[in-house]
Amino acid sequence: MGKVYVFDHPLIQHKLTYIRDKNTGTKEFRELVDEVGTLMAFEITRDMPLEEIEIETPIQTAKTKVLSGKKLAIVPILRAGLGMVEGVLKLIPAAKVGHVGLYRDPETLKPVEYYVKLPADVEEREFIVVDPMLATGGSAVEAINALKKRGAKNIKFMCLVAAPVGVEAMQEAHPDVDIFIAALDEKLNDHGYIVPGLGDAGDRLFGTK
Ligand code: URA
Repeated sequence: MGKVYVFDHPLIQHKLTYIRDKNTGTKEFRELVDEVGTLMAFEITRDMPLEEIEIETPIQTAKTKVLSGKKLAIVPILRAGLGMVEGVLKLIPAAKVGHVGLYRDPETLKPVEYYVKLPADVEEREFIVVDPMLATGGSAVEAINALKKRGAKNIKFMCLVAAPVGVEAMQEAHPDVDIFIAALDEKLNDHGYIVPGLGDAGDRLFGTK
């Protein structure tokens, strides 16, 4: 069963409050999502492997640690996931970026992939799939299916706000994928929005209706 980590760091919670606030405009919303992306990346990378190297400080030779060169990729689910990419890249600037685009089939109402572009070495790479909202879980489950179909073996999922039903759907479909969230909200409403949520993340990020 994939673990669920709720990041209750005060800075993340503070910024999330203003992300949720309907009076927060597009510019500030975008900046805050970016900042929370950075803070979440800091937490999510805690288990990155280190290796020891030898360097010369101005004083003497020292054995110190550096990241052991693990290959990482961030994969936003289009379009709202794009809002979290730059924030993560601030901390992990060498990460590659893949993209997954999904549309909803008008008959089955299920998400179907229309665009998938991933970096090379899929099998050895660690992927962080990002999307601000985990609502029904349909898109996240399908995006991760798309990655696994292409050979991905090591995947994490990161979002701002999740609904319990979305977390359950993910855990059932992808028990090997840990989920990192800033808040676990109450439920979905009849229109599929997370309650209390933050509204439509894509529209708020890009200023569309
Ligand atoms: N997608 C959103 O952007 N917001 C929700 O509340 C649910 C899904």
